[in-house]
Amino acid sequence: MAARLVSVSVPLLLLLVVVLAGSRAALASKTVEQTCAKATSGARRKELLAPFCVSSLQAAPGSEGADAHGLAAIATNLTLANYTAAVATIKALERRGGWSERSRRALATCRQRYIEALNVVHSAVHALATGKLRDYVSDMGVVRKAATDCEGAFGGAGGNAKSPLRKVDADADNLTVVAMLIVRSLQ
Ligand SMILES: *[C@@H]1O[C@H](CO)[C@@H](O)[C@H](O)[C@H]1NC(C)=O
Ligand SMILES: *[C@@H]1O[C@H](CO)[C@@H](O)[C@H](O)[C@H]1NC(C)=O
Ligand SMILES: *[C@@H]1O[C@H](CO)[C@@H](O)[C@H](O)[C@H]1NC(C)=O
Repeated sequence: MAARLVSVSVPLLLLLVVVLAGSRAALASKTVEQTCAKATSGARRKELLAPFCVSSLQAAPGSEGADAHGLAAIATNLTLANYTAAVATIKALERRGGWSERSRRALATCRQRYIEALNVVHSAVHALATGKLRDYVSDMGVVRKAATDCEGAFGGAGGNAKSPLRKVDADADNLTVVAMLIVRSLQ
């Protein structure tokens, strides 16, 4: 009798575990999707920004199961990591050399602007942690401007110098916007 009970309940238990794990995962990714949808609902280019938000956050450790507040912190941390990586990329490009005078100057401007922005992202992390959401939004506005200024240093949309930092700048800009929008949606 006891043996029969065990033989029935083990597969049942396994099934239960599988079902529960599945619904947890579905619930978690749903939070990312819902948070991104809500945050980007009023944004320009939301049809591009929402999937960018979802894929960036889902790739981040800890996003599964995080609520909107947690996702705001994760998005801000991602921005910090992205700007740190951007500085490294710029330094590597400078070391590689072979740039025109104009590109060399643009790279130097970018390095300076991204390094300045890193300090401001740290300040934004602190503002978020202490609930100073207005300070946060204004910090992130400054942070975002570093990426757009960098792209502009290469001549911007109408310029003729092709920016080697196009993707870096676009990712940095978009991540900053996503983080800001999520924080705004908390208010
Ligand atoms: C910056 O963030 C974007 C979006 O999440 C990602 O695709 C890209 O790989 C990141 N860049 C670096 C250098 O980490
Ligand atoms: C953000 O980064 C800080 C510092 O690395 C870390 O202490 C914190 O746990 C991170 N927060 C999230 C939500 O990942
Ligand atoms: C990211 O930013 C760039 C330039 O700011 C823009 O062209 C692009 O559409 C954005 N991508 C997304 C996914 O919003």
